[in-house]
Amino acid sequence: MDVNPDKLNAFMGKMVGDMGAAANAALIKVGDRLGLYKALAAKGPMTPAELAKATGTTERCIREWLSAQAAAGYIDYDAASGKFHMQPEQQMAFADEDSPVFIGAIGDVMSAMVLDEPKISEAFRTGKGVGWNDRAECLFCGTARFFRASYKHHLVQEWLPALEGVVDKLERGATVADVGCGHGISTRLMARAFPNSRFYGFDAHEGSIETARKAAKEDGLAERLSFATATAKTFPSHNYDLVCFFDCLHDMGDPVGALKHVAGTLAKDGTCMLVEPFANDRLEQNLNPVGSMFYAASTMICTPASMAQEVGAALGAQAGEARLREVARQGGLTRFRRAAETPFNLILEARA
Ligand SMILES: C[S@@+](CC[C@H](N)C(=O)[O-])C[C@H]1O[C@@H](n2cnc3c(N)ncnc32)[C@H](O)[C@@H]1O
Repeated sequence: MDVNPDKLNAFMGKMVGDMGAAANAALIKVGDRLGLYKALAAKGPMTPAELAKATGTTERCIREWLSAQAAAGYIDYDAASGKFHMQPEQQMAFADEDSPVFIGAIGDVMSAMVLDEPKISEAFRTGKGVGWNDRAECLFCGTARFFRASYKHHLVQEWLPALEGVVDKLERGATVADVGCGHGISTRLMARAFPNSRFYGFDAHEGSIETARKAAKEDGLAERLSFATATAKTFPSHNYDLVCFFDCLHDMGDPVGALKHVAGTLAKDGTCMLVEPFANDRLEQNLNPVGSMFYAASTMICTPASMAQEVGAALGAQAGEARLREVARQGGLTRFRRAAETPFNLILEARA
């Protein structure tokens, strides 16, 4: 083996950074669960003892957590005062649930990947997949909270207006299905924005539908927004003007079957909106930090979820526009275009 020492040093340097990031994923979850980021952001520079007092935690544990987070660059340390603080950008990322870049929930998603690793490794052997119903509980709320930032800042403002004629219909009064809606965050955002329209959220996971129902009731939206447990191939038809799939078509075992069903439930000239993780069409175009994150999540979450269902198409989170266009065509939705994109999402419009 001909090892180049410079290349080896560079590679191990990268790995030290990556290992630090991976280890700090658990600390993000600790900070999120115990309200450490939020307390630090709200109260300004604090010593470990002050943060421990403010959050009802133990000073020694907090000191170690703060030191690790400062070494990672997630919070800042001032050696002169011995205090830790968060810059506005760090607060936006970890402490402010309403910010467009909130990633404080990522610890939930990461820990679900690690907790479920034995099941996933076994599924590598059997090829049988691991269903969404069979995952660690924190995956459901982590996913919902993680995606909320994008939906809150893009869905009504940019994504729906990018679809041909859809906002006019929603303002006049349209019928909308949100398929694979999870906790229904996207459904509730749309229902709040378009009071003349009627919304239906469907998901195969009973626990998520219960959470969505409760939230809709608390929001006072229950009259025009209902949630039901149903799969993408069996949800009832209400002549929809718009059927949405938020980050879930690729999780489904039979995405072609799902879109065939959609084609049969759409009103004349109705629209299907697919929100999918951003990906280019070829693997070599996705070998970058966004691809690294999405392929990892796809390996541990999306691909096994699809393989646990009928057909088991396993599109993966990085299917890309060309593959999704083909899935839509096979489902009978032949008018297809990229309506919008963000660094993390493709927004695709599909019509019969
Ligand atoms: C990654 S989550 C996305 C949830 C939600 N749309 C969001 O953006 O927060 C994928 C969702 O698809 C649902 N799902 C997977 N396969 C399904 C199927 N065949 N029919 C209906 N829902 C399905 C899962 O239960 C899960 O709630």
